[in-house]
Amino acid sequence: MNKTVEVLPDQPALVARALELILSKLETAIEQRGRFSIALSGGSTPKPLYEAIANQKLPWDKIHIFWGDERYVPPNHPDSNELMTRRAWLDHVDIPAANIHPVPTLEVNPEVAAAKYEQQLKEFFNSSGAEFPSLDVILLGMGDDAHTASLFPHTEALKVRDRLVTVGNKDGNPRISFTYPFINAANSVIFLVAGANKRPALAQVFAPVADDFTYPSRLIQPQGELWWLLDAAAGLELQH
Ligand code: 6PG
Repeated sequence: MNKTVEVLPDQPALVARALELILSKLETAIEQRGRFSIALSGGSTPKPLYEAIANQKLPWDKIHIFWGDERYVPPNHPDSNELMTRRAWLDHVDIPAANIHPVPTLEVNPEVAAAKYEQQLKEFFNSSGAEFPSLDVILLGMGDDAHTASLFPHTEALKVRDRLVTVGNKDGNPRISFTYPFINAANSVIFLVAGANKRPALAQVFAPVADDFTYPSRLIQPQGELWWLLDAAAGLELQH
C-alpha cells in the first residue's frame, strides 16, 4: 500500500484536488482498460465534488458508477445517497442508465439487498472466484466517529471478510455497505475529509496503535493507493 496524505487550505481546494485526482485515474483506466469504475460515498462532503464532476466533458459511456454504501431507504427518500448523487451530478450528464449501478433498497430485507448488489458487482467484473474484484476508485468519507462507508464502530459488519457487500447498522437503522476487504481490493481509495469535528477521529485513525473496531477507518489499508485528502480544519495536526 502506498499512502499519501494531502492537507488542502479549504473545502474548495479540497474539491479541486479530489476532482484532479479522480480525472487522472479515470483517464488512465479508460486508456488501459476501456472503462472506469468508481464507487461513491454519501454524506455532505462529496456533494460539491459531484457537482464539479458534472461540469466536466467526459466519455460518460465508459464510466460506471457504484455506491460504497447506501441507507436502506427507497431511491426517492431524502436520505438516499443515490438521490443526492443524481441531483448533484448524474441527472446533469448523458451517462447511460446502464452505467449507473444503484444499491437495490426495495428488496424484502437488507440481507437480500446486500446479496443482490454483491451478485451485480461480480457480474460486472465477471468474477466468480474467491478473488475480490478491484474497482478503479473507491471514494470514502469518514464520520466523526471514524466510521467509513457504513462500517460503524463495534458493529457486525466489521467482522465480515468473505463478502463484497454486507449489512451495516447505524443506531439500529440498516445500511448496505462494501466490506472493508472489498474496499481494500480497490486500485485507489480516496478519503475526502473536511471539518474540525473530524480531527479527534483522524488522530485515532492515524495513531500507530488504536483499536480498529473502535475506529473502523483504520481497517482501510488497500493493496493499491490510499489517498487522504483533508482540508486544513480537519488535517492541521497531521500535516507532515
Ligand atoms: C453516508 C456516507 C458516510 C459518510 C460519512 C461522512 O452514507 O453517510 O457514506 O460514510 O461518508 O458519514 O459524512 P460527511 O461527509 O457528511 O461528514
